Amino acid sequence: MESVPLDFLGELRRTHNCGELRASDAGKRALLMGWVHRRRDLGGVVFIHLRDREGVTQLVFHAGTEAHAKVELLASEYVIAAEGTIALRSADTINPSISTGEVEIVVEKLWILNESRTPPFPMEETVDVKEETRLKYRYVDLRRPHMQRNVILRSKVAFAVRQALTNLGFLEIETPFMTRSTPEGARDYLVPNRLQPGTFYALPQSPQIFKQLLMVSGYDKYFQIVRCFRDEAFRADRQAEFTQIDLEMSFPQQETIFSVIEPLIVAAWKVAGFDLKTPFPRMTYAQAMRSYGIDKPEMRLPPFYCVEDLLPDLTAHGLPLVAIRVPKAGAVTRSERDALKDFGKEKGLRVFDDPKRLDRDFPEAMAKVRERIGAQEDDLLLLAGWGGEPQGHRPEETVLQAAGQLRLNAIQKYADRHKLLDPKNFQFLWVTDFPMFEWDEEEQRWMAAHHPFTSVHDEDIEKLTSDPARCRAKSYDLVLNGNELGSGSIRIHRRDVQAKVFSALGFSDDEAKRRFGFLLEALEYGAPPHGGIALGLDRLVMILSEESSIREVIPFPKTARGSDLMCDAPSEIPEKQLRELGLMVRKQS
Ligand code: AMO
Repeated sequence: MESVPLDFLGELRRTHNCGELRASDAGKRALLMGWVHRRRDLGGVVFIHLRDREGVTQLVFHAGTEAHAKVELLASEYVIAAEGTIALRSADTINPSISTGEVEIVVEKLWILNESRTPPFPMEETVDVKEETRLKYRYVDLRRPHMQRNVILRSKVAFAVRQALTNLGFLEIETPFMTRSTPEGARDYLVPNRLQPGTFYALPQSPQIFKQLLMVSGYDKYFQIVRCFRDEAFRADRQAEFTQIDLEMSFPQQETIFSVIEPLIVAAWKVAGFDLKTPFPRMTYAQAMRSYGIDKPEMRLPPFYCVEDLLPDLTAHGLPLVAIRVPKAGAVTRSERDALKDFGKEKGLRVFDDPKRLDRDFPEAMAKVRERIGAQEDDLLLLAGWGGEPQGHRPEETVLQAAGQLRLNAIQKYADRHKLLDPKNFQFLWVTDFPMFEWDEEEQRWMAAHHPFTSVHDEDIEKLTSDPARCRAKSYDLVLNGNELGSGSIRIHRRDVQAKVFSALGFSDDEAKRRFGFLLEALEYGAPPHGGIALGLDRLVMILSEESSIREVIPFPKTARGSDLMCDAPSEIPEKQLRELGLMVRKQS
């Protein structure tokens, strides 16, 4: 890098930011500081677009001035200060695409505060840059307008959330990061402890147990915007460290939790300029499965319908038969239909994709099917039943889940053609009454569907050990456009019930005591009924900013392989540090 003479900041002070000046400021003096975004040299006159996080302001350098002589030294991303007079632009040079587009600063004095190497990619958002490069030079990437918009939106949403919850009487209380394992279904990140070699802290997968303990301590209405850590596979909507809006209340009904979250979401969406209507619709898990085959329905697309009552001849083992309407499918080709059929078959379904034949064989029943699903002229109609023996502990669910995947696969493709998925159409939904347990094939045991501290429905307590597959939990998810935005439950506050649930989960008394003894004990000291929820802040901001990955709304995210390409983490550590920690690394062969 060739060096240019640099100026000191000295006593210079900014008068305005780069997004602030308007026509009414014409004639005043201004001193701005920022980065050289763009430079146009028209011989006698040089124009610089000066950028900071608030926006861009045009600077004009006229030939013959001291500033003009210096402007030649500037290149992209140099950091400068410029002082001059604010002038109105002529009508034909107004730039409506920037907020300061009616004015410019006629510069008299220029200070070069720092130079910059040629940036690894241009700042224009229209330029597509490889994500690896963006992450390696994240500090440069974060200057780009769309990242600045996302980071600013995130900050404003977090503030709106804090404000909404504080106004409702919630207290923000911190809980430890160095703690012991909390069971949220992923692996833990561990921190070795130098003072007692061989012992480890776990980073929290969520503050679940601590927030419950805070309820025992009487801190009704807790919240925290908090980092959580989970060693699980990375996806577009998952990171190893992510942020939750976490809350807990004492003595709540499920509706009490909803009545806190709905205004909070309204406040967050307001920040981005959207007005939402509440209350959000509610649907039980059982209904969601029978209408969408998934617990996080994409409500912008039509549901499917169970029609086994109308077509018993096509129904096997009393399992569901599902009619899927693919709207406006129009000219779906034979090979596209075959592809859908194959997709269904892979999932275990038997797909009937020839409506003409069905109409011929079952004219009356098919008329009723069409009526039930509201079929229209150019819709494609698919019927799907189970293609084999019943599977799983809730076999009807296995069929509905497969049909749900076929629905999404079929509709998304054609819906895209017809732009049914408007990103500004926010379809929220509360899904309630999840099953209490999920069967884990690998471990051959029931696992908590939400987490082991979730209450079972009062009328299902007796079934905890006799019929775990049919126990419903007092749990709920907030779903938005096919994404799980948040999840929560009414908790168990009685030690005897918690012990029963641990036993249904296959924990021996000893194991339950070893892992959660402190919680069980706390439940013996006057634990009030309590419940709560956590929303994923990253996911929320991702949807709000119309991004398709949470990496776009996390300032310093990790790659899909868990690396931070900028600071090259994770990294090996020196032998000395290992020794201090009493650790030895066994090389994987
Ligand atoms: P849960 O595990 O469902 O519940 O998490 C709540 C919400 O956190 C977000 N989330 C994630 N976001 C990004 N990356 C991840 N790896 C990730 N994992 C989860 C999701 C999810 O809906 N303690 C309970 C909450 C409670 O019961 O109050 C919990 O953590 O948006």
